[in-house]
Amino acid sequence: MRLFVTGAGGMLGRAVVQGAARDGHGVLGAARLHLDVTDREAVMRRIGDEQPEVVINCAAYTDVDGAESDPLAAMAVNDAGAGNVAAAAAAAGAAIIHLSTDYVFDGSKRGPWLESDPTGPLGAYGESKLAGELAVADANASHAIVRTAWLFGAGAKNFVDTMLALGDQREEVSVVTDQIGCPTWTGHLAGALVALAARPQDTGIHHIAGAGACSWNELAQEVFQRAAIECRVLPTTSDAFPRPAARPANSVLASERPDPIVLAPWRVGVAEYLAKRVPA
Ligand SMILES: NC(=O)c1ccc[n+]([C@@H]2O[C@H](COP(=O)([O-])OP(=O)(O)OC[C@H]3O[C@@H](n4cnc5c(N)ncnc54)[C@H](OP(=O)(O)O)[C@@H]3O)[C@@H](O)[C@H]2O)c1
Repeated sequence: MRLFVTGAGGMLGRAVVQGAARDGHGVLGAARLHLDVTDREAVMRRIGDEQPEVVINCAAYTDVDGAESDPLAAMAVNDAGAGNVAAAAAAAGAAIIHLSTDYVFDGSKRGPWLESDPTGPLGAYGESKLAGELAVADANASHAIVRTAWLFGAGAKNFVDTMLALGDQREEVSVVTDQIGCPTWTGHLAGALVALAARPQDTGIHHIAGAGACSWNELAQEVFQRAAIECRVLPTTSDAFPRPAARPANSVLASERPDPIVLAPWRVGVAEYLAKRVPA
């Protein structure tokens, strides 16, 4: 398959390029420096030139708190930019796989969020990602919108790395127990996205995240245990860490699709990431 990846300099984008190449696909990735998705003409030209079969859009404005003070910047990339990529793919006869997020939900459901559940973002980032989902679906009938959650992997700041750094410096850390979600290793998700690229009939929304669920507190405990770091993980709540953007309390994703792509359990993702991780 011939794949083109936008946002290829990001945490997920780089894993997708590596995973696709490892699986023997022809894959080209463009980082922001080489392709700004808000530049519609450049996006149309580049994707037209490359003639991919599937475009995987990993480009995004991902600063959840920053989006509260600059919602237009988030919209420019996550809404208009996503629409540009989807339209360019359509013009080139390519399908699009677009990345979205658990933050399109308000976190109030008891039980996991399914694809058909009503959305209700709590902040500007979630609003921009939801707008992007609609823009992508509007611009390209051959679309798969993948909502994922709690990513960790090589190449960008992430919770697992933050805990490893803190664990080396402190004897105890306080981590919230009142947000639950599905930690997802980018290596596992990348494989799923490449598999999805080979399933052009599977259009629409897909929830794909590490199997199982936990709180951030439990994730920190798992990281320390696996990495043999002696650091106590104390319970705390979100109130103790006020931030500009509210986070959903329940971010757990599950799929109601008839033939869902299921990832390995999140603990396996942590183990594989730690085994492959090159310390900074
Ligand atoms: N991280 C998570 O926990 C999480 C959870 C759920 C869903 N997601 C979704 O998963 C996808 C990948 O996220 P990620 O964690 O890999 O984020 P990331 O590491 O921040 O990667 C996003 C990439 O997009 C690039 N970018 C920003 N503006 C761009 C533009 N105008 N044109 C082209 N590229 C641009 C960024 O470049 P710069 O670094 O130069 O800005 C960055 O390399 C996103 O759609 C995100 O919403 C992430």
